[in-house]
This record gives sequence, C-alpha cells and structure tokens, in this order.
Amino acid sequence: MASCKKIYITTPIYYVNDVAHIGHAYTTIIADAVARFSKLMGYETFLLTGTDEHGQKIEESAKKRNRTPKEYADEISKTFKDLWDDFGIEYDHFIRTTDEYHKEGVKKAFEKMYENGDIYKGSYKGNYCVSCESFFTDTQLIDEIACPDCGKETKEIEEESYFFRLSKYEKPLLDFYKENPEFILPTSKRNEVIAFVENGLKDLSISRTSFDWGVKLPDSLGEPDHVMYVWLDALLNYVTALETEERMDFWPAKLHIVGKDILRFHAIYWPAFLMSLDLPLPHHISAHGWWTRDGQKMSKSIGNVVKPREVVDAYGIDSFRYFLLREVPFGQDGDFSEKALINRINGDLGNSLGNLLNRLIGMSDKYFGSEFEGELGNFEEKLKEVDSKIGNLENYIFKMQLHRYLEDIWEILAIGNRAIQESEPWAKIKTNPDEVRSLLIFISNLLSRVAVLISPIMPKSSIEMAKALQLEISPDAYKNIFEIRNSFKIVKIPALFPRVDKPKMQKVEEKPKPKELKLDGVITIDKFFETKIKIGEVLEVEAVPKSKKLYKLQVDLGEERPRQIVAGIREFYSEDELTHSQVCVVANLKPAKLMGLVSEGMVLAGKDESGLSLIRPEKRKKVGTPVS
Ligand code: MSP
Repeated sequence: MASCKKIYITTPIYYVNDVAHIGHAYTTIIADAVARFSKLMGYETFLLTGTDEHGQKIEESAKKRNRTPKEYADEISKTFKDLWDDFGIEYDHFIRTTDEYHKEGVKKAFEKMYENGDIYKGSYKGNYCVSCESFFTDTQLIDEIACPDCGKETKEIEEESYFFRLSKYEKPLLDFYKENPEFILPTSKRNEVIAFVENGLKDLSISRTSFDWGVKLPDSLGEPDHVMYVWLDALLNYVTALETEERMDFWPAKLHIVGKDILRFHAIYWPAFLMSLDLPLPHHISAHGWWTRDGQKMSKSIGNVVKPREVVDAYGIDSFRYFLLREVPFGQDGDFSEKALINRINGDLGNSLGNLLNRLIGMSDKYFGSEFEGELGNFEEKLKEVDSKIGNLENYIFKMQLHRYLEDIWEILAIGNRAIQESEPWAKIKTNPDEVRSLLIFISNLLSRVAVLISPIMPKSSIEMAKALQLEISPDAYKNIFEIRNSFKIVKIPALFPRVDKPKMQKVEEKPKPKELKLDGVITIDKFFETKIKIGEVLEVEAVPKSKKLYKLQVDLGEERPRQIVAGIREFYSEDELTHSQVCVVANLKPAKLMGLVSEGMVLAGKDESGLSLIRPEKRKKVGTPVS
C-alpha cells in the first residue's frame, strides 16, 4: 500500500429526496469494508458519509409533501443515519450539508476561488435537469429536450449566474490524469473522463437565482438572491467535514468511492475546484457500477427497488455484505436477485466457510474434548500454500478488487475442506491420532487467518469465529497473521450460516404488463408530416344559404389573404362563438367545391354522440403556427 499513514475514505453524500436503496448501501458498505481493512492494517483511518440536502430537487420533493425543505431533510437524513448505525457502519463523521459549519466552509471556499480570479459573473442560458442537478448544452440533449444522463425532461432556464472558470483547468486536468494513471479507477472509466475533457470544458454556472434552497453566496458579494450550485456545495463536504473535526491532516483523501453516474463531477469538477483552492488532489476516485434487480432497472413505479433493510432483516448483514462485494467485480454492473443471494449463502458461506468451522468444532470435541496441542507435521506445506495466497491479498484492497480478495480467501477455505477429505480423520483417529491432531492444528491455523481476513467484509461472523478459536481480531493479529499456533481450545458456537430453504423476502409483485395496442393503418412520422396543419383565426362567419349545416368561414392562416373554408359546424357553434376564435386547419388539402362554394382547407373537429367539438390550441398562438 501507499506510504501515507493517514487514510481518508469517503462515500458520496446521499440526496434526501428519497430513502436508501441497494445502490446507497453498496457504496457505503464498500467504503466501510475498505476503511475497516485500513484500520486492520494499522493505519489511522477516517471514514466520512452523510447527506446532500440542498437543491431544487429536494425543494420540490418537500413541497409535494407539504413540508419545509429543512423538515423534510431532517427526516430523511435521519433514516440514512439510522440505517448505517443499524448496519454497523463505522463512519467517523456524518455530515449534513445543512450543518452550519459546512455552509460557512462552503462560503469561505467560494470567496477564496473568487479572490483567485476563478469566479466571474455572467448570465446563464441553458437546459437544466432538476433530477441530476446538472446543466446541458443543446447538443448534449436527447431529442432536443431530454437529459442525456437520466432521460428526464430538462428545463430551459436563463438567469444571472456566477461562473467558475472550468475551461482554465482543461490542460492542468489532462496533465494530472496523465501523471496519475491511477487517479480514476477502474481504468476503463478513466478513458471516458479523459475523452470528455479533451472534447473541451465550458465554464460552469455555480450560482442560481430561480430557487432558494441552498447555501447563500458570501455576504461580501452582496448577492442575496443567489444560492450556490448544489454540486459545488456538495463536493466541498469532503473538506468541510475534516475542517470541523480539525483533522485536515487527513487531506488529501485516499479514496472517494462513487457510482459511475457521478464520476464526472468527482473526476473533473472536484479536482478543478481543489486546484483553484490550492489544495492537494485526492489519490483515487473509484467508480462502481449500477445494480439492477432480477435483470430489470429498479424503479419506484415498478415497485422493485431493493430495500437494504428488508434484505438484512431476512438474511443478516454479513450475508448481504458478502453478496454485494463478491457478486460483481468492482466497476461492473450487478444484478440482485434473492435466488443469487440464497445461492451465495448456502454455497460459499454455508458449505465452504460454515462447514469448515463446524467440522473443526465437531472433530475437536469428539476426538480431543475440544482441546489439543501439537505440531503441524505433514500439514506444514499446506499451511505454506495458504500463506502464499495471503501474501497477495493486500494489493487487492485499495485497487478495489474486493471480489478477487474474497475469491482467494475462498480458495484457502477449499484447501482446508480438501485436506479433511483427503486425510480421512474418521478412519485414522484410532490408528494415527497424531496425524488427526496435526490436521486440526492446520485447520485451526487456517481458520484463524480467515477470521482476521474476513473481518473487514463480515465483521460479525469474524467475531463469532474468533470466539470459537479464542483469538482477538486486531491490527496486531493482522500483523502477526503468519504466526503458527500450536495449541487450541475450541469453543462451540451456533452454525454461522444456517441453510436457507426458501426465500424469506416479500415477493416483488409482478405488475401486469400493459396490453399491446392493436394499431390500425399505422403510418410513419414522415407520412404524418405530409399533412400540414396550421393554427388560424376565424375572421368572418356566414351561413351558407339552403344549408342547415354549413358555414362559410374566412380564416387567417398568416398568408397573403384569408382562406375560404366551408365547414359543417353550424348546428354546434353560433357565429359569435366562432368569430375571432382560433382553429386548427388542414392547410394543404386540394381545394374542393361544397354547395357550389370553393373550400380551401378543413377545420379539425371531433364528434361523438354528445355533439361536435372543434380542436383548438389551448393558448392563443400566432396565426400560421404549424401543428405537430
Ligand atoms: N448527492 C449526490 C452525490 C454528491 S457527492 C458529493 C448523489 N446522491 S444519490 O443519492 O443520488 O446517489 C448516491 C450514490 O448512489 C451514487 O454513487 C450513485 O451512483 C449510487 N446509486 C444510485 N442508484 C444506484 C444503483 N441502482 N446501483 C448502484 N448505485 C447507484 O448522487
């Protein structure tokens, strides 16, 4: 591992517009596991998590529930904190962006960036996605309106705004990525970020006037109407938390763990802000993938969001932690299914780990009254094999290869289970009890190592194993992991991972798929646009003599003269109702004659048994405006 002795690890701070789901739990559990590992290695470690509470999205969520943003934020922030406490997450500080010290810290940072000449006032016109709290240029939008990240509709906004000179940092950022190839992990993601920056960086709008719920700009600027852009406010949490704890000696962070969707903010904006603040840059930004459930994207409307508390209530925290960290290589997308979780519990956890410990407890009791002492004998080589695997493990952790770490530990367990199979102690106990004793010394040493090594991943199970093997899980135990113990007193403990026979979680209700519509005479959009429909204003209305149904209308379509249109609407509209009202007209119909009168278009209407209704624009529009 790197030479730094103080290790600072962070999770993203979570938006309080909704309660925690598996994605939040995943990031937090990885961060907790890495922080625990760092402590085990003897490093002074600081783990930060918290909640991101400002911005338009939160303001809108609170409004929908008739609450003030602060009341709403208090409630949801607490649900996150309670969840992490119940899950035993060992965070050192829980930050809320509504905390006073944070707001003060953010203002100071803004002032410093302003004094450094990196902030200027301008006006912003662009497309804003409230859901992602992010701006996009016209060319970035999908179908000219939708957010390229989440697909939701963006809003066009124009307002006075302060800007951060992000463009100035284009080259320094590219140089930094080059000099620090492990800054962005995994490397596949690094290339995406570099390509994005190489495409050119525009200055970033960092203040807003269209809503209130945010940190105000520093008083020195005299701009009471501006609040800070939520991502500037949020990213600074990584520094303000240390400042308030008076632990700036932990900066720069060893590791910011984030989901792939927010990598851009952390790998581009954040280092640029830090450069502007003259602060050193973090060592790694590690981006993980996205979780789906049963192969489907999670969404509240489908009702398939994985709620971490529900999983943990059913299967226990350690099984969940193991599953999350083992199931997917870091950086790749993963799928949660209850079946896959049960397979991991019954297979890896029950059959390999639980079973090996059970066999040790059973045999030591039956053959030696639970106490034995002796040499490794024939098993010395096998323990060397185990130790050579352990030698490699440390490298995996800070490179976020936790699945490989676990794979190797499970290979070690397989060595233990195989050794019992091959040595057949049940057949030898009468004829060669020394070999059986050596076998148990070997298994006990192997499991002691495993108990220490899995402690960052499955802390509770590790403590149980330590109880059975009478050892202590501590940085010392890790430092002396290769020590060989020759005497053991094994304590009986209940099975670590009892078999799961049937699913325990509530079934996700399958919502019936909407029936497929049978469409008649389907046309393409191009075909539709062959019909030119325009908005027009009725200038004059005249009844057609000898007809009960027809009016002769003069309709202005913004052309050199009004059009004459004969329409069968007289039974449903009076002349007054029609005069100066707007209608929709099919403007490229071939003129036809009706009751001897030329009709130069058709007004659109819908008719059912209760009568006829004209199709009109909901708001008045300029005459001639095309309808699409
Ligand atoms: N508030 C910002 C982060 C600011 S950090 C200075 C934010 N919050 S969030 O609550 O929307 O998301 C937090 C984390 O959850 C992100 O890392 C995101 O990637 C992760 N996940 C959200 N949904 C997820 C999945 N379905 N799967 C995996 N993780 C996902 O973004």
